[in-house]
Amino acid sequence: MLQEPSTILVTGGAGYIGSHAVLELQQAGYKVIVLDNLVYGHRELVQEVLKTELIVGDTSDRSLLDQLFASREIAAVMHFAAYAYVGESVTDPAKYYRNNVIGTLTLLEAMQAANLNKFVFSSTCATYGIPETVPIPENHPQHPINPYGATKLMVERILADFDLAYGLQSVCFRYFNAAGADPEGRLGEDHNPETHLIPLVLQTAMGMRDCIKVFGTDYPTPDGTCIRDYIHVTDLAAAHVLGLDHLLRGGKSATFNLGNGNGFSVKQVIDAARQITQRDIKVLECDRRPGDPPSLVGSGERARTVLGWNPQYSDLHQILTHAWNWHQTRHASELIQP
Ligand SMILES: NC(=O)c1ccc[n+]([C@@H]2O[C@H](COP(=O)([O-])OP(=O)(O)OC[C@H]3O[C@@H](n4cnc5c(N)ncnc54)[C@H](O)[C@@H]3O)[C@@H](O)[C@H]2O)c1
Repeated sequence: MLQEPSTILVTGGAGYIGSHAVLELQQAGYKVIVLDNLVYGHRELVQEVLKTELIVGDTSDRSLLDQLFASREIAAVMHFAAYAYVGESVTDPAKYYRNNVIGTLTLLEAMQAANLNKFVFSSTCATYGIPETVPIPENHPQHPINPYGATKLMVERILADFDLAYGLQSVCFRYFNAAGADPEGRLGEDHNPETHLIPLVLQTAMGMRDCIKVFGTDYPTPDGTCIRDYIHVTDLAAAHVLGLDHLLRGGKSATFNLGNGNGFSVKQVIDAARQITQRDIKVLECDRRPGDPPSLVGSGERARTVLGWNPQYSDLHQILTHAWNWHQTRHASELIQP
């Protein structure tokens, strides 16, 4: 007899990384329910592209969660829902602690009440703060330097305590810089406001912005600009399915970096984008921003060894090509011809 596919609740599944994870889950044979408050998410990606069930609601709505867990057989939760603007977390920390910590705690308590004990969590390299060693291993000290990173570290600690006390097993993924888009162009990055380098560079190439600001050209790096580890969103999504499988097979709670182990400078990203888009990308060199470490690169070795993760798209040109294809389709009406 054929087994019914397991159902996974994906919070934040209408957002950038969550939507790619939904696609990967579907391709792996899972059934998906998305819970998203649509503050930043895109309804049409869930309903029209992914064609999956969307519950418009908030992770802090305990009665909604209780009702959902009582009425549906859910095998695990993948939790992407959070606010993720580092700068805003400094100016409005309450918004971040409320959503990222209290919203997550509410979700975990509802899971505990429903005896649901498998959880995959989006953490971040921002929990490390200024790195002492690069590439950063998972056992590197965690001293976040902004409220956003602090909220994610708090959830990691809550998860460790929930495992000990209630047996809730979790996989925490600390992502480096998510980038790129679905290689087949069905999904991609569309944050509003946008703060990530690659979409900003591509929007500049499209004529949607006058120039790209480069913050700091005097860092102790080969070309003076900051180095970051760009990880393709499809590779991130694939790791989530492996993390979920690990938990569903009875694997223990674990934490993994998701990075490629090598970085690219801001100037390298801009030069590669010029080659791929064949467009002029004007640069405005600005002073350093406080709190930007010169280099943030993560060792993804543990995820490779324990989960068998094997990133397919670590080439910067591939990441940029996929992102460029998506941007051209998504913003076709705004495209200014060169
Ligand atoms: N983008 C990156 O480079 C990066 C790096 C490290 C970690 N992360 C983490 O990955 C996750 C996803 O990031 P993203 O770039 O896809 O962001 P995103 O904003 O595109 O997606 C987040 C989604 O969560 C939804 N949401 C937020 N709070 C909610 C709540 N309380 N209830 C229900 N829905 C809610 C938003 O509407 C949005 O659709 C976040 O947790 C983020 O902190 C992202």
